[in-house]
Amino acid sequence: MPLVSMRQLLDEAAKGGYGVGAFNVNNMEQIQAIMEAARETKSPVIVQASRGARSYSQDRFLYHLMLAATELYPETPMALHQDHGNSVETCKSAIAMGFTSVMMDGSLMPDGKTPSTFEYNVKATREIVEAAHAKGVTVEGEIGVLGGIEDGHGAGLDGLSHLTDPDQAAEFVRLTGVDALAIAIGTSHGAYKFTKKPTGETLKMDRLIEIHKRLPNTHLVMHGSSSVPKELQDIINQYGGKLKPTWGVPVEEIQLGIKNGVRKVNVDTDCRLAITGAIRKVFAEKPEEFDPRSYLKPAREAMKKVVALRMTQFGQAGHAGDYTPLPLEEMAKRYREHAAA
Ligand code: G3H
Ligand code: 13P
Ligand code: ZN
Repeated sequence: MPLVSMRQLLDEAAKGGYGVGAFNVNNMEQIQAIMEAARETKSPVIVQASRGARSYSQDRFLYHLMLAATELYPETPMALHQDHGNSVETCKSAIAMGFTSVMMDGSLMPDGKTPSTFEYNVKATREIVEAAHAKGVTVEGEIGVLGGIEDGHGAGLDGLSHLTDPDQAAEFVRLTGVDALAIAIGTSHGAYKFTKKPTGETLKMDRLIEIHKRLPNTHLVMHGSSSVPKELQDIINQYGGKLKPTWGVPVEEIQLGIKNGVRKVNVDTDCRLAITGAIRKVFAEKPEEFDPRSYLKPAREAMKKVVALRMTQFGQAGHAGDYTPLPLEEMAKRYREHAAA
């Protein structure tokens, strides 16, 4: 089946009361890992590419790998999403290439680190909503600012400095018409999110619940949702890595989020950890190996395992065959009719 609208995936997830993992990719092995996990667990999926991923893969390599995935896994409803579009131009180029969903991250200026104004965010996001919906493409916006800075999608603040304000979130959705909304509740990107297991003081699930009450019909998105499992940290460190002790977002908190309107759960770091651990293990145990397949195969398998586990934990497992994907033209028609009503 062709690439599917992310809006449809999220609407179906809302009906079924589950979340959908959005996993980042940069290369063939990561796409294969996700597709195999989706097949094994019978899951719909969101595959997402950051601006860095598009540049690393020269864009079209990644896009054509995704087309190959649609041919080889016809049973899997799959959306291709631009993660953290830093500007109107980035989002427009993703739409032109065939992405079925884009994130206009207008919470930051195009440099990806300076917090923007509400007015800038509304204007840029509104412009993308108009361009995207005309083609049936989904839009995710962000209000509030995520912590962290290492990956270029955070303001370098601690996770709590710019939490999403529920009133502002409601106003933002009303003014922009976004399909999904990323919120800041204390998470940040990367491996170093929390120095100990998060509590209600550091991970503000109560804020998420408040936002959901204000916006019961908006699909919420949790960024920075890797759980950074100790087992994966340990494998890396056992084979020569140097990760400092750290905590991610516990799966049970994500599951609480899913009960309260979270439909898209962004995960990249856990996959990176799984891949790196598997590669380090081969390098340490079989230093005579030099065929890249000898370490890329276990790396792909390790990522598949973590993705399949998350698919089961988020509840999307078993839902791949629930619905017939709508063509993007049909989505565009629905947006037009909704705007006219
Ligand atoms: O949002 C962050 C993702 O982990 C992607 O990171 O920009 O390093 O590809 P990246
Ligand atoms: P993690 O770094 O927690 O995996 O978050 C990924 C993310 O939010 C991508 O947009
Ligand atoms: Zn993110």
